[in-house]
Amino acid sequence: MDFFKRHFFVSLFAVLGLVVVAYLGSQAASLQVFFGVVVPYLAVLIFLEGLIYRIIVWARSPVPFRIPTTAGQNKTLPWIERDLGEQLDNPATFKHLVGRMALEVLAFRSLFRNLRTELRKDPADPEGDRLIHWSYKWLWLGAIAFHYAFLVVILRHLRFFTEPVPMPFQLLEHVDGFFQFFTPAVYLSGVVLVVAVFYLMARRITSPTLRYISLAADYFPLLLILGIGISGILMRYIYKVDIVAVKELALGLATFHPVVPAGIGAIFYVHLFLVCVLFAYFPFSKLMHAPGVFLSPSRNMVSNNRWVLHVNPWNYPVKFHHYDEYEDRFREAMIEADIPVEKES
Ligand code: HEM
Repeated sequence: MDFFKRHFFVSLFAVLGLVVVAYLGSQAASLQVFFGVVVPYLAVLIFLEGLIYRIIVWARSPVPFRIPTTAGQNKTLPWIERDLGEQLDNPATFKHLVGRMALEVLAFRSLFRNLRTELRKDPADPEGDRLIHWSYKWLWLGAIAFHYAFLVVILRHLRFFTEPVPMPFQLLEHVDGFFQFFTPAVYLSGVVLVVAVFYLMARRITSPTLRYISLAADYFPLLLILGIGISGILMRYIYKVDIVAVKELALGLATFHPVVPAGIGAIFYVHLFLVCVLFAYFPFSKLMHAPGVFLSPSRNMVSNNRWVLHVNPWNYPVKFHHYDEYEDRFREAMIEADIPVEKES
């Protein structure tokens, strides 16, 4: 089996296996407590513990260098002006750093600047190739659609866990369900979520270069989220479940008075189980890029190394030889060799 097939099909069968486990488990009334209460609590526990553990490990790691990635003129002599874009790309103050992080987190700015590079046939020289770069926005669009749709779906789901449902969530539900083509109203975010995940996976599969760098750890979360989205859509529009009973179960979990109402429907347990696996898997996966962006030294540091000394926390005591000491020692020889000196004597 070739590289792509091995990584893709292992992930696909893993997700299908989870679906089968949840489906079969929900058929046995005695296991519904396990799938409806034990698994969700366990998943949240693993999620929180894993998340906190990894954040603590990252936060405690020494950052030996001041290494912000910059894409604009650094602050320099007063008459060299910098526009707002440069101030955000090369933040010299905390205010601009916050602006940069906000654009990164809320608008995926660095992905927006994504370039594609390819060798293409050179029309001027049929024998040769030409290296071309062009601005490629589709990945940014797919990523932003996916992340915002995911956020809206999660916020909307909070109606299951709250009573009364807070006003902002109700409003979100009305706006999201604006397109009332069918009954029940189609939630745009659910559809966008599934379409965006399909696109993000299709690009990995169809591009030979992406296929070559994609592992099971890349396909598995995409397929898992796809499974969650598809099972949710099936549950809402085709295999209806008892929403009142779902809410009873969700509220029970949220208030630590778990109950498992009878007759919710197997598809709900499949959906819930996949969500639980996603939560438990999160801290051990690439999905940690979400909290990781805040702890990334190349993003979260002010670019002030021209005027602030950044001390490496790993430094052991070293006797420094400062320039004035050096010049004191070699001044005579420097003057004789016509090397400029700061002090004449
Ligand atoms: C990562 C978390 C989750 C994601 C991404 C997700 C995704 C979805 C999606 C895309 C739908 C289709 C309809 C819509 O757009 O709302 C849906 C429906 C549904 N989900 Fe989830 N879900 C998640 C967590 C949960 C949890 C924890 C529960 C348990 C209470 C749940 C229960 C349901 C139910 C009952 C429906 C049918 C809704 C209806 O008929 O109105 N989901 N989900």
